[in-house]
Amino acid sequence: MSQKVAGVKGMNDLLPGEIEIWQHVEAQARELFGRFGYGEIRTPMVEDTALFVRSVGEETDIVGKEMYTFNDKADRSLSLRPEGTAPAARAYIEHSIANQEPLTRWFYAGPMFRYERMKTGRYRQFYQIGAEAYGAKEGAQDVEMMDMVVQFLERLGLKDITLNINSLGDEVCRPTYHAKLVEYLQAHREALCGDCQKRMEKNPLRVLDCKNEKCQAIAAAGPNVLESLCEPCRAHFDDVQRKLTALGVRHVVNPRMVRGLDYYTRTVFEFIASHPALGTASTVGAGGRYDKLVKSLGGPDAPAVGFACGLDRLVLLLKESGQQFTVRPDVFVAVADAGSHDAALVLASRLRREGLRVEFDTRGGSLKSQMKRADKSSAEFTLVLGEAERTSGQAKLKPMAGGEPIPVALDEVARVVRERKVVSA
Ligand code: HAM
Repeated sequence: MSQKVAGVKGMNDLLPGEIEIWQHVEAQARELFGRFGYGEIRTPMVEDTALFVRSVGEETDIVGKEMYTFNDKADRSLSLRPEGTAPAARAYIEHSIANQEPLTRWFYAGPMFRYERMKTGRYRQFYQIGAEAYGAKEGAQDVEMMDMVVQFLERLGLKDITLNINSLGDEVCRPTYHAKLVEYLQAHREALCGDCQKRMEKNPLRVLDCKNEKCQAIAAAGPNVLESLCEPCRAHFDDVQRKLTALGVRHVVNPRMVRGLDYYTRTVFEFIASHPALGTASTVGAGGRYDKLVKSLGGPDAPAVGFACGLDRLVLLLKESGQQFTVRPDVFVAVADAGSHDAALVLASRLRREGLRVEFDTRGGSLKSQMKRADKSSAEFTLVLGEAERTSGQAKLKPMAGGEPIPVALDEVARVVRERKVVSA
């Protein structure tokens, strides 16, 4: 026997039965984000490695440890995208979008890749739905975006999700905070992990999201970023909070939240679910403002804010919610005798053209086996086609949930099924 080839660890197949949930989530996002004026972008799955090094940051776990990086045949270093913000910014610059419109709202959905330690809700190929808004520095843009995520989660029927917010300051006040943080960390140097001892010099904020428990405890007792904010950053953060309150968006200020990517300035936020199905992978969506990124990648001085939700995690929550996502077939067309098989194939084709979802067993087989399949398909009706039906042009629609069979002319099937569905719906 030939040896089986297994899928890559941490990368999942999505099959019918589950894919309907994914499609539902994506459809809800598309519809809602459209209401907020977001247009869809699709960028390549692979980018120049330098894009992520210069944006997400060399010292982050994402770039330092988790990227799928390889050299192509021309010896260029490429990486599978670990996130969508940097590719979107690259496209924004490359297509000179800032010259064409002052305010740009984009969304995207697709797979991202990070070589992470796998567990529930944490995969190596995972999916994000995200959005980015360029051109507005005002807190209103941050709040509009958080409101969009809140409405998205509401539409999905997901509850018990807490919005955490923080401000990381800007290039004026961040150095003050860095200095305080480094001073504090120096005093605890010996207790930090090896990685953090290095991070402390190069990028002290990264110590705050180290996964090592000892480092986390030290970080938790360290200086509070909000106490170092300069006046404009303080005013921006106050404005964001006031506007969230005006919209009735409940939020918690969490001064320990720093996010795992380097490009953020001012507002950062995370939506954290409390459902046990997610284990420690409880952040279902996150983002923040990054006013300096576009310029640092060679583009115009465009402020921006964005977020991304982890689809895999949303789907895990929806699976637990008891909601139904699979769509049942309307009719199962069964064949009573071999001589009626072609006529049944023609009938099924016509009903599909008329808009019905039709199941038909192309293998034929006994009526008993077809009825078993009809049951399994959870079709609403079964219609048996045999010589008698072909000759008379009349058949019966059998409701699979029970009840009297409904007499129907063969050329009226679609209309009757539709009427009955409206009545029972
Ligand atoms: P992030 O926090 O790295 O941010 O990821 C956003 C979300 O993607 C997470 O909250 C989580 O739901 C999901 N996610 C991340 N890694 C995994 C994984 N290994 N498996 C499953 N789900 C995962 C960003 O990526 C930023 N680009 C967000 C952003 C957009 N900031 C501004 N604009």
